[in-house]
Order: sequence, then structure tokens, then C-alpha cells
Amino acid sequence: MSKIPVWIDCDTGVDDAAALLTANQLDNVQIVGLSTVAGNVPLDKTTVNTLKICDLMKKDYPVYMGADRPWIRPYVDASDVHGNDGLGGAPLPAPSRKPENKKAWDALYEEAVRQDGELVLVAIGPLTNVATALTLHPDLKDYLKKILIMGGAAVGGNRTASAEFNIYVDPDAAQTVFRCGKQITMFGLDVTQKAYVTAEEMDRIAEKVTPVTTFFKESMAPRMPFYEDLGIVGVCLHDVCPMLYLKYPEIFELEEAGVYVETQAELTLGKTVTDLFSDHQFEKKNAMVALRVDREAFFRHFSDALQSY
Ligand code: BDR
Ligand code: CA
Repeated sequence: MSKIPVWIDCDTGVDDAAALLTANQLDNVQIVGLSTVAGNVPLDKTTVNTLKICDLMKKDYPVYMGADRPWIRPYVDASDVHGNDGLGGAPLPAPSRKPENKKAWDALYEEAVRQDGELVLVAIGPLTNVATALTLHPDLKDYLKKILIMGGAAVGGNRTASAEFNIYVDPDAAQTVFRCGKQITMFGLDVTQKAYVTAEEMDRIAEKVTPVTTFFKESMAPRMPFYEDLGIVGVCLHDVCPMLYLKYPEIFELEEAGVYVETQAELTLGKTVTDLFSDHQFEKKNAMVALRVDREAFFRHFSDALQSY
């Protein structure tokens, strides 16, 4: 079976880590590069965390650093959710490697050209690197097979009442990505808040004791109260959704829609304005929006991936 070459742009916090661990075990996926961006925690930490997860997976995927701040807006982090280190304080050894010298946006472009139209880009952090790459290399979009993102929400928000974190951090970059002319596959809160694992399920995964399952439980379990406060009965694995979609698209339901990002307003800054529930008012349907997931199947595939280390 020929594998899908995948580039992952991440801001490695706890669910990014779970997403990397998942993607690495999908037998139809070949990770060809990783890039890091300021998001959940500052860039130096998202980079160190990504390198630590590579060591945990015993893989030497090249890691490229990208933007240390959003395009225009002041940077805000999510260390309240992911902990000061971004990995919930779960102990992992210091990384054995350093990041590559090349900038994320140039490395991504070069790999896309090398893969000649086959590369799938999965972005699970703020979209600063991706927007920079699309701007500096205008033909990048033609070389990419697909762009999958975790970000946004047709309804609601988590960072504010109307905005999801990844989009809120850099709405200007996000708007550039949604307007780039290539259809975006969007895994927003509509679906990712349905993709949770309960405390009991975390215990079940960790029953097979390995460094990976132990790390997963130690990094995730302390996040439980945060989600309980939101009325969700488990921890959301936002960033795992686009990864599992690469192998199990049938467990997700998506609808085509127009999606544009609010970059000006105060109350709704970073909202992914989606015309799904408004008579499909936008002329251009620039996104496939994931709305539902078969949670049982999601848990089963995730659990299998983590237990297969
Ligand atoms: C998204 O924001 C980050 O905190 C998570 O890693 C995920 O990418 C969820 O809103
Ligand atoms: Ca993330």
C-alpha cells in the first residue's frame, strides 16, 4: 500500500502530543515533516515538546521552527489548559535532537514540491506558519493535495464565546488560509468536543503499561476538571480528529460550507463565520466542515493506536 505523505504543523500541547502519537501509528500515513508554531505555549516550548514526542515514538522526523508570534495581534497562550510546559507537567526526558535550521514555511514548500501534489498538510495549531507559507510561496496550494485543520467552530467557541483558540490566536493568518483558493477540511469544536475520552477510558488505555500510555494518562488526566466545568464528560482530543480522518474518514460526517474569519470585531474576533445554518449564503464553498463523529469508533481507533506502541 502506498502511504499518504503527511506534514504536521503543530503547537505541541497535550492533545497535539496525542495526535502525533496517533498519526505515527497509522499504517497508511508517512509523516515527512513537522513544523512548530507559537500556540498553546511559546515556540521554544512547542518545539522542545515536539522533539520529545519524536523521541517517545523513537522517530527522527525533521522538526522545523516557524512563527514565534501571530501576524498582527498580540500573542496569547493556553498554558491555563496545557500547563506551563505545554505537556501538563508529564515527565519526559530532554530531547536528544535539535530542530533543523530551515524555516518552517520554506521546508514545507520544498517538501510539497518534492511530493509533487501528493502532500497532505495537517495543521493543528494557530495558522501563522501555514499562512506565511501560502503567502511566500503562492504556488504552494497547487502542490498540496489537501489542507486539514483543527480549528474554528460553526457554532460557539472555547477561547471566547465565539472563537476557538487556534483561530483566535491568529485570525489574520486563518483568514488567509480560508481564502487561499483551496478547499479546507475543517475539524472545529462542532466535532472535536464530541471526540472525548472519559477518565475510565483513559485508565483502560493505560492498563497496557508502556511509556506512551503512561505519558498519555499523565498529561491528559489533570485536564479532566477543565472539561467537566464545560459540561463535557471527558477530555477532548481535538487534534486527534484530523489524524484519524486520514485513515478512517467514514467515522466523520462533513458538510460543505462557506467559512470566513472575523478579523475586526471585538466581541467576535476569530469567529469562523460559517453559512451552514444561514441558508448557505456565501457564494464560495471553501470548506468541508466536520460536524459529527462516531465517538465509540473514534475511541476504539485512538486506543488501538496508543496501545500499539
Ligand atoms: C485547539 O487549541 C489547542 O489548545 C489545542 O491543542 C487544539 O489545537 C483546541 O481549541
Ligand atoms: Ca494544537
